[in-house]
Amino acid sequence: MKVANITAANWRADYPSDYPDPQIKQPWELISFDNNPIDYMNAILQDSRTSFRYDNRKLVGTGHEPWWISEWLDYGTSGREPYMGLTKERGPSPGDLSPTNKDGYQVWAVGFYNHSGAAVLGDIFAEPCNPSLPVALKFPFDTVSIKFLFTDASTDEVNYLKGAPAYDALIDAAGSGSTSLPVEKRTKQPLHLLQVDIAIKDSRAADTGWVFGTFAWIGPPKGDQLFDNLVPVSLQWGNDPKVYDTNLHQSWTNPALAGVTYGWEKRPTMGFQGRANGPADNIRSSCLSCHAASRTPRSTLGLLNSRFNMADLANTAKVKDHVDTWFQNLKGGQLFQPAEPATSALDYSLQLEAATFRMCRACAAGDLQGVTPILCRSSGFYNRPMCSAPTADFARKLSLELTPPPRQ
Ligand code: HEC
Repeated sequence: MKVANITAANWRADYPSDYPDPQIKQPWELISFDNNPIDYMNAILQDSRTSFRYDNRKLVGTGHEPWWISEWLDYGTSGREPYMGLTKERGPSPGDLSPTNKDGYQVWAVGFYNHSGAAVLGDIFAEPCNPSLPVALKFPFDTVSIKFLFTDASTDEVNYLKGAPAYDALIDAAGSGSTSLPVEKRTKQPLHLLQVDIAIKDSRAADTGWVFGTFAWIGPPKGDQLFDNLVPVSLQWGNDPKVYDTNLHQSWTNPALAGVTYGWEKRPTMGFQGRANGPADNIRSSCLSCHAASRTPRSTLGLLNSRFNMADLANTAKVKDHVDTWFQNLKGGQLFQPAEPATSALDYSLQLEAATFRMCRACAAGDLQGVTPILCRSSGFYNRPMCSAPTADFARKLSLELTPPPRQ
């Protein structure tokens, strides 16, 4: 990349080779996520407060923070930008962030795994260019992932972001929304922290094994202007299968944020019929519905049905079909859409799904050379024995690299 004077983000990928002792109780394990979601969420956040801070218009770590990023998310047109290692995500639709947010805003994010999760990444990426995945991946209990999501949405339209500190990143042209543009065209622009996602493998979440939730940055700025502004939005420990109305038992949404992050015509709820989701997320889905679909290769259904028409909420047949397809409770290692074979069920990790897909794209485009990674052949992403020859044919490369944004 021809950008001078950037100190590139320096996140850890030196995965630990040992697994923490599962007998050691973590602070959040003493708190009930369904009876006391706010305390549970804050206990998770507490765990990362000493690791990350805002410094010189960037999110930075301590250098030895116990949080690791995934390999291979740097590749492709939505791949990591240099300042903070952000990847491009789904751009919000009009009315997603606030009653007045317009179309075309971008969302960029960086996600980490804690020691338990990173030890799994270490096993998978023991050979970084030839990862090995079990048929049914399983993260250990106590795995935590945290993800910071930033947006260029106007704070005149998204009032709760007013006064938020600005972060710099090298991103696509304003107005590009979900579309990924050629990396060479990115420019430095200011972003604001919008949302912080957490995912916890918790043995008490009997139906799925996971608890997912999110915070939003709610102004006015206070304290460290990073963690001190994060307000719990929603938490989820199941998808409420076969619930076709809003009578949910496995999601919690913060009532204090009614009228702030939800509660208007286009966004009556955070996720589908009140299931958990964040401001940047699609109302037709929930955290767990998208993540339960993680497998390599992806099923032909993708990660959500973005064509479900929200005007059809009163159509019981359509709602039933949507709920029965997407809001099942799958356990870690269980395959979404088992009628379609897969190399691996990825235990809710969508970074691993994106990473393996992008690596195979790199092989197909000639940006990774040598013997084709075994995974690319078994998943059907790329079947030839050797990766493509390196090519200067930019147009061909671009057509191979251009993939739909990961979070539709
Ligand atoms: C429409 C699908 C979709 C929805 C809804 C969604 N995510 Fe994700 N999420 C993704 C994708 C795709 C990735 C991986 C790509 C990336 O990080 O750039 C991801 C990554 C993550 C990660 C990093 C670890 C991992 O699993 O890869 C966390 C943590 C996370 N999401 C939490 C959440 C939470 C919490 C919610 C709900 C508030 C949520 N997600 C809703 C698609 C989704």
